[in-house]
Formats: sequence, structure tokens, C-alpha cells
Amino acid sequence: MKSIVVLVSGNGSNLQAIIDACDSSITDGKVTAVFSNKAEAYALERAKNAGAAGVFLDPKAFDTRDAFDHELMRQMDEFKPDLVILAGYMRILSGEFVRHYMGRMINIHPSLLPKYPGLNTYQRAIHAGDEEHGTSVHFVTEQLDGGPVILQAKVPIFDEDTVETLTERVQNQEHRIYPMVAKWFVEGRLEMVDGKAAYLDGDLLSMHGYAPE
Ligand code: GAR
Repeated sequence: MKSIVVLVSGNGSNLQAIIDACDSSITDGKVTAVFSNKAEAYALERAKNAGAAGVFLDPKAFDTRDAFDHELMRQMDEFKPDLVILAGYMRILSGEFVRHYMGRMINIHPSLLPKYPGLNTYQRAIHAGDEEHGTSVHFVTEQLDGGPVILQAKVPIFDEDTVETLTERVQNQEHRIYPMVAKWFVEGRLEMVDGKAAYLDGDLLSMHGYAPE
């Protein structure tokens, strides 16, 4: 059984989608632990309900980012993660942390990368008058939201959309594609090569990730 460790900061709806998938389609994977940098994250409740360890690690207890990440890494490694999933984890990662989990750590970001890395992607897409928005699952590298994309999902933006309505539309897609990518990884079908390229079943994925024929 592959050990999946999830990092969160908030609601954890993506965590829930992964937990649910481990009960059904991801037959060889299990969420063993969930770590949060926020004490009040509802995701910790979801972890408990799923029988996984739910751990709050307080950034204020550490002098530096490196010290926090070092301790986080030490605690995470007790669960021997085969896969690390960032699911709404809103902290910048130190270089040491990223290098330690390189090739086995994925993130979901609410934009069609490389468009709109960083924060407030919904506001930025609406403000720019874009006709579509979406979400990307990618391998994590030292470049913020810059690692190779594995899978994207697009949604339309309608004239009457607000940040809230667009968020809901995008998150519905996230709950569909994130478990799918986790399953590919657990099944050994997915690989990052040289920190630059993602491969699925040995095929190089394009800059927008997997696209069915
Ligand atoms: C998700 O929509 C995810 O795309 C976003 O945070 C949300 C967490 O929701 N991640 C980022 O913005 C990372 N830069 P959730 O806690 O309900 O899964």
C-alpha cells in the first residue's frame, strides 16, 4: 500500500476527494497523514474522520522557514510518503523541502498554468476579461507554480460570474482531476524527469499536461 501524505491550510475539499478516491478507485493508496500550518483548518477534521493522522504544526514556533520545513519533513517522513499532495497548502516551500520530495510531490493550482501563478487567480482572470479559467495539477519544483503540468481542466467564465461562482465551478473540476492524477502516480504511471518534464505511461506530456486524443 502506497503512503500518501497531504499538506493543507484550509477547508480540505480536495483532500476529501483524495480520501474518497482511496476508498474506491485508488486501490493501492492510503492517506496516512495530513499536516496543516493552520490550527483551525477543517481539513484536520476530515483527516480525523478518515482515520488518518491530522497534525497541526505551528509556524510561529519556529524562527525561520527552513527550521519549520525541516521539522515538517522529519514528521512527514515518519509516514514514509510515496506521494506528497499539496491540497490548498498556502505556504512557500524551502528549497531543501522541495528537493527532498522532488518527483513525488504534486500541487493543484487554480489557473491554467503558466497563466496566473501566485495568488488571486480568479480575480485576475475575471478582471482581464478572460473567457475561460481552470485548474492545473503539476509536479512541484523550486519554481513557484512552475513545475511540469500533468493535467488541466478548463471552465468557461460567464459575464455574470463572481469570484465565488467561478471558484465553485473550478473546484468541481479539481475534485475530478486531482484524484485521477493521484491514481496515476500510485499506479506508477507518472514520472518527472530532470525536474523539467512529466511523463505518463512513458509519453512526454505537453506544457498543458495530458490531453486525450
Ligand atoms: C484549491 O482550490 C486549490 O486550487 C487552491 O486552494 C484551494 C484549496 O481548497 N490552491 C492554491 O491556491 C495553491 N496556490 P480546499 O482546501 O477546499 O481543497
